[in-house]
Amino acid sequence: MLKVPNHVAIILDGNGRWAKSKGMPRNYGHTMGAKNVEGVCRAAYDMGIRYLTFYAFSTENWSRPDSEVEAIMSLLESYLKNCQKIAKKNNMRVRVIGDLSRLDEKFRNNIKALEENSKTYDGLCLTIAINYGSRDEMVRGMKKMTRDVLEGKLEVEDISEEKFSSYLDTAELPDPDLLIRTSGEMRLSNYLLWQLAYSEFYFTDTPWPDFHEKELRQAVEAYSARDRRYGGLKEEGSNV
Ligand code: FPP
Repeated sequence: MLKVPNHVAIILDGNGRWAKSKGMPRNYGHTMGAKNVEGVCRAAYDMGIRYLTFYAFSTENWSRPDSEVEAIMSLLESYLKNCQKIAKKNNMRVRVIGDLSRLDEKFRNNIKALEENSKTYDGLCLTIAINYGSRDEMVRGMKKMTRDVLEGKLEVEDISEEKFSSYLDTAELPDPDLLIRTSGEMRLSNYLLWQLAYSEFYFTDTPWPDFHEKELRQAVEAYSARDRRYGGLKEEGSNV
């Protein structure tokens, strides 16, 4: 029987190279990459995946040319605007993680409204990371935690792994079971470093705009075939 991961995190990569291979500008790759998200969400939910978390824009992505940053931001903004309808239609809850203080106010308000309006939907839980970096998230979390200690709201002795997790942007999400990275690179690029501690990794050469239901199924099948035991005996024990 296929063992389906509850939470899949995806580093969508290769939009630019995919476009270049077709003699098109990089931004065309981003447009097609954004178009691919809805189909993958639907396929994931149909397969039994309950949480999907996409790395859409990293804290490092600001160093791309201004025209590309602007194009990506406006794509993300229009995707999330349109997401109000998609969320309702697909019973999908949407969250955004990352340091949103660098986004313009209108964008932030749209995100807030989308999170609020979709919070009771209990189908797929879609999380999109924008201006996200794992180290930045941990530093923000540590600052918040330190403030709580200084204000007497938290005792140093009560700091635990669970407590620290509760200060991260992903506080309400389970840790990912599976990480997928498209387009051939084999690194984490500062994505969910704390949360991926026990996750399985799956790398594929397929660029994101070509990653559809069939490729997702292959990733889930590879995950399902793995022996997931951390630190226990390989020939016996539970699936922890
Ligand atoms: C990855 O390809 C692309 C990004 C990190 C940019 C933003 C992603 C999108 C616009 C897709 C939309 C996502 C959502 C969730 C709506 P790359 O440019 O790094 O490709 P390359 O490695 O080939 O240059």
